[in-house]
Amino acid sequence: MILVKTRSALSEQLQLTGNEVEVGFVPTMGALHRGHLTLVARAVAENPVVVVSIFVNPNQFNDPDDLKRYPRNLEADLKLLEGTGCHMVFAPEAEEIYPGPDNRKFNFGKLETVMEGKHRPGHFNGVAQVVSKLFDIVQPRRAYFGLKDFQQLAIINAMVKQLSLPVEIVACDIVREESGLAMSSRNELLSPEDRKEAALINQTLNRAAELAGEKTVKEIENWVTETINNSPALTVEYFEVVDNESLQRIGNWSEEGEKTGCIAVYCGKIRLIDNVRF
Ligand code: PAF
Repeated sequence: MILVKTRSALSEQLQLTGNEVEVGFVPTMGALHRGHLTLVARAVAENPVVVVSIFVNPNQFNDPDDLKRYPRNLEADLKLLEGTGCHMVFAPEAEEIYPGPDNRKFNFGKLETVMEGKHRPGHFNGVAQVVSKLFDIVQPRRAYFGLKDFQQLAIINAMVKQLSLPVEIVACDIVREESGLAMSSRNELLSPEDRKEAALINQTLNRAAELAGEKTVKEIENWVTETINNSPALTVEYFEVVDNESLQRIGNWSEEGEKTGCIAVYCGKIRLIDNVRF
């Protein structure tokens, strides 16, 4: 496994593998956990060459404190990646990705005005900026993203379509801690008590999926919000049952199309997201 920090070094390494070789790409912000390693394992199984990027992208943080406290530990990340079959780790400094300001403004229409897009203004524009740059550098045939970031996946798919990029986006299932809590780099920032309490999020979503036959959409949305807010450690920012394609809120279970309940919850200062299929 080779660690490279510059675009030119990465291009050089990729050229050594040959132009025709299909590259699998796992973009990350580091603080790797089992969820990331699952993406890497899938990429390794499906591609002869695999690149993992580790870059905490300042442009996608709307809250400077969130950026400051985001966990960073390159040494530990490299240790976790050793032996996964990943060939190259691209860990650039910010100047390497953004030699000047990136003024590009993407337009994802209604996909970006709801949920994460509504509560984290500018977040998805920053995600699209960095992912488009990383795709340009790595030139992957396939790129792997976790379904925990459900809306991010829709945005990336829309971006790939808009820019006609020759990359297949592979959506991978959420990986969970034993308690059911969705794996996230931010979980590291939770106290042991809060981490235990945060398991209520997934438990409540699972129960909601079971109750969907008995309650209306509105009732389910209220029930989930109230149940989680009953914990003194947790505060729901939003819970919405949305159409998988449009990401717009549904009114009735009888509406066509697949549906997912998406949630954002504050556990103290730490913001967690999760989702469940209905
Ligand atoms: O999901 C993430 O970790 C980030 O949003 C991504 C895709 C690596 C872009 O910085």
